[in-house]
Amino acid sequence: MKRYLRLGVNIDHVATIRNARGGWHPDPVRAARLAAQSGADGITAHLREDRRHISDEDIRRLSDEIDLPLNLEMAATQEMRDIALRHRPHATCIVPERREERTTEGGLDVAGNREHLRPIVTALGEAGIRVSLFVEPDPRQLDAALGIGAPVVELHTGAYCDAQGPRRLAELGRIRAAAAHAEAIGLECHAGHGLSYETVAAVAAVPTIVELNIGHFLIGEAIFGGLESAIKRMRAAMDQARAAAGGERSA
Ligand code: PXP
Repeated sequence: MKRYLRLGVNIDHVATIRNARGGWHPDPVRAARLAAQSGADGITAHLREDRRHISDEDIRRLSDEIDLPLNLEMAATQEMRDIALRHRPHATCIVPERREERTTEGGLDVAGNREHLRPIVTALGEAGIRVSLFVEPDPRQLDAALGIGAPVVELHTGAYCDAQGPRRLAELGRIRAAAAHAEAIGLECHAGHGLSYETVAAVAAVPTIVELNIGHFLIGEAIFGGLESAIKRMRAAMDQARAAAGGERSA
C-alpha cells in the first residue's frame, strides 16, 4: 500500500542556542513557523525534566500559536503526563531520559516497564492524544508496546546512523524488520534520531514507516544555508527515496 511519509521537524536545538545566552533569540516558535512554510508536516519538541532546551513556555506557545500538529517528546513521569494533559498536543512520544545523557541514547525498555508505562499511555490516549513509544528496532519491544495499548512506535535510528559499512547495513536490516513487524501487528511506525541527508534515504524507503522526526542535523545545516533550505532539501530526499521505493510523494 502506498503511504505518505510525514516529516516532523524537531526544534529543540534552536532553544539550545537561545539558552546558551538566555533571553529570547533565536525563538523556537519562529523556527516552527518557518518549518511549517518549508514542508514540515509537524513540529516535535522534547520538554526535558531539566529544561535544558525547550521550556514550559515554549510548549505553551507551540500549542497556542502553531497550526501544525505538535508532537511532545516526554519522559514517562507524572509531571510530564500532567503537562501533556494540560496542553493536549496532537501526539506525545514517550522517551527514556537520563539527566547525564547528551541526547536520548537508547529506546524505552517497554517490555521491562509495562506496569509503569501502561497507566500513562492509557491516560494520554483517553485524552485523545496519540501516543508513541520510542523503542529500539526490536520486535519484543513492539509487542510490549502493543500490549500496553500504544497505537504508535518510533524506531530509534541512532545505531544505524552511527554505524559504518556492514554494521550500518545490519542496523538497517533491524529497522526494516521492525517496521514490517509493526505493520503485521497493527502499530503505526515512525522513526528518528541522528538522521541526515546521507542516512535518510534508506529509512525513507521503508514503506511501512509513515513519519520521520529530525532535528539536530537540520538545525546544524541551517547555520550554513538557512532552515528553509535545509528542510526543503531533507523533504526532497525523503520524497525521492519514497518514490523510488514505490510510495507516493504527497498526501
Ligand atoms: N525522535 C526522538 C524520539 C528523539 O528523542 C529525537 C531527539 O530528540 C529525535 C527523534 C530527533 O533526533 P535528532 O535531533 O538526532 O534528529
